Parts: sequence; structure tokens; C-alpha cells
Amino acid sequence: MTVKNIIWHLHNVTKDERAKQKQQRPCILWFTGLSGSGKSTISGAVEQKLFELGYHTYLLDGDNVRHGLNKDLAFSDGDRVENIRRVGELSKLMIDAGLLVMTAFISPFKADREMVRNLVQQHEFIEIYMDTPLKVCEQRDPKGLYKKARNGEIKNFTGISSDYESPELPEIVISTVELSIEECADKIINYLKENRIIN
Ligand code: ADX
Repeated sequence: MTVKNIIWHLHNVTKDERAKQKQQRPCILWFTGLSGSGKSTISGAVEQKLFELGYHTYLLDGDNVRHGLNKDLAFSDGDRVENIRRVGELSKLMIDAGLLVMTAFISPFKADREMVRNLVQQHEFIEIYMDTPLKVCEQRDPKGLYKKARNGEIKNFTGISSDYESPELPEIVISTVELSIEECADKIINYLKENRIIN
């Protein structure tokens, strides 16, 4: 739908001013991967580290956002596309507010992740692929959902009966099989330091 008769309003306080006041360079750390791949755990650990370092952060988590803003959406391909579109726009607003935003959504489709990447400036989108094999996610099965999906109790379950398209060129790849939670979080923090997103 086009936005007809709606005129963008320029506000007095700018994005740059908000970021400057917080003394940080806003960005989105976009975690993608299968259910059980460690997105929530690692993004939580990264947020805690950034918070303790004095940065202004926010973590958007799939399960939580689906209790509120996106509670009208299920897991058809179309609903997942809309889920990611809304979260992308929300993340963009949070960047505008000057925050370091972490998002933990399966976000299974490449095109949707690219769409979010294109919503913000190039250096503001950091894709983090939680490269945990399906077999491991299924063994972990922290919420018992893989078992239900195998039994046919959940339809369209990612990795079982719905696609997951792995990123081709993510900024960061995390192997939760090889590294501890602490090591995974440190790898991401180091990337942010090396790329001068944080000091
Ligand atoms: S996404 O595909 O649209 O990005 P999102 O990250 O918001 O998914 O939600 C995924 C979470 O919802 C999973 O971690 C899991 O707990 C739960 N869930 C419930 N049903 C499904 C399903 N069919 N496929 C994947 N995850 C599901």
C-alpha cells in the first residue's frame, strides 16, 4: 500500500543528536538461526555485557514480541514475512532513538533479512548467524517443540516442515557447539570493538 496524503514530519531532535547524547553508534545486531540455536541466550549475554559497559540497549525476542505487537501472527510463510517486516521497522525506530538493538528471531528467509538490512545504513546492520546444526537444536529441544513437530502436533515448524535459508555472507558466524556462552558473547563484543561500533 502507498502512503498517500501522509507527509513525513521532521522533528526537532535528530537521530544523530540522540545517538551523540548517548555517546554511542546505534546498530542492529540481527541474530538468525533455528529454534534452539541459541539466539535468545547469546543475544541476552551480549546485551548484558553492553549494558554493563554503559551502552543503551534493547533486546527484541521472537517469543516475547509474538505475545504482544505480533500476537496476531502465526507461522505461515506470509505471517513470518510480516513478523520480520514489523520487527525490522521497529528496530529502525530504535536505531533512530539511538539504541544498540539486538533481535532474536528465526527470520528464516534471506529476502526478509535483506529487506531489513536495506532499511538502515550499511554499517548499522550486523547479521549474526547462529550456526547450530538442526540435530543439535533438536537434541536440546528446550521447549519440547521439536518433539511436538515430529509428532505432527505443530505444523510449519522451521527445520522440520518449514524452510530455513542460511545466510551466505553474515557479518558474524557463531558456533554454539564449539564455544561457551561467554566465548560466543565475547566474539560478538570483539567484532563490535574491531569495527569501532563500541570503544
Ligand atoms: S520467525 O520464523 O517468524 O522469525 P520467531 O523467531 O518470531 O519466528 O518465533 C520463533 C519461536 O516461536 C520459536 O523459538 C518457538 O519457540 C516458537 N514456535 C512456535 N511454533 C513455531 C513454528 N511452527 N516454527 C518455528 N517456531 C515456532
